[in-house]
Amino acid sequence: MHTLTTISGMRAACDALRRSGKTLGFVPTMGALHEGHLSLVRAARAQCDAVAVSVFVNPAQFGPNEDFSRYPRQLENDSQMLAAEGVALMFTPGVEEMYPPGAATFVEVEGLSERNEGRMRPGHFRGVATVVSKLFHAVPADKAYFGQKDAAQCAVIRKMVRDLALPVEVVVCPIVREPDGLAMSSRNAYLTAEERQWATVLFRALTEVRRSFDAGERNASRLAETARAIFAQVPGVVPDYIEVLDPDTLLPVDVADRPTLVSVAARVGSPRLLDNIVLPGRAP
Ligand code: PAF
Repeated sequence: MHTLTTISGMRAACDALRRSGKTLGFVPTMGALHEGHLSLVRAARAQCDAVAVSVFVNPAQFGPNEDFSRYPRQLENDSQMLAAEGVALMFTPGVEEMYPPGAATFVEVEGLSERNEGRMRPGHFRGVATVVSKLFHAVPADKAYFGQKDAAQCAVIRKMVRDLALPVEVVVCPIVREPDGLAMSSRNAYLTAEERQWATVLFRALTEVRRSFDAGERNASRLAETARAIFAQVPGVVPDYIEVLDPDTLLPVDVADRPTLVSVAARVGSPRLLDNIVLPGRAP
């Protein structure tokens, strides 16, 4: 595995790979890798000849009171995991490489960026869209892989790629869960033992929604109410939102009669976790 830290070096390495006739899959990450990230790497390996992974904790997507400074950073460990997965190129730029002093250009997907998770974290998706478009420039690839856990991020990136006609195919991979259902996330590392127990309520609430849907319920408010009732059983967990949405526009739907995103975010003690399911929107 080659590790590169400059945009020009990374571009040259990707171009050389592709000139030799290989297809390239790209997995952008912020590091602190877990099985969820590795599932993206494995999907990329299965579909492409070579895989590139970036590890960059992007300051532009953190709000002033968020966890940028304490976000877990484990570059040595990440690098070993990626080498063991057969990754060809790792890109680990510094902040100044991605944001040269005075950088004033941003990418904003209007509308989508203010919905769902974007409503709770003003500026977050501007930071995500900006860094992902820069990373696409630094890592020219055939396909780029993202996790369904960040469903709103996936919607923003799909739209940005469409709107800017970026020459990359976005592939969204399923959520990877712990045996008890908790969606894997680098932020799970913040949970205390007690909070880790409480955290299973996110998936339990979504499972109950799916059960209700399978029993024929299609009314979005009643589906959300089902989830709210499960959250109420765990007082240590406070939902930020329980939303029933169109997965592309992130606008609320009244009736889950087509593929529908049920998205939840909750404070589990102090850490904040996300989870979601997509209801198929057809008769069970
Ligand atoms: O999902 C993430 O880890 C980040 O938001 C991403 C896509 C790597 C951009 O910083």
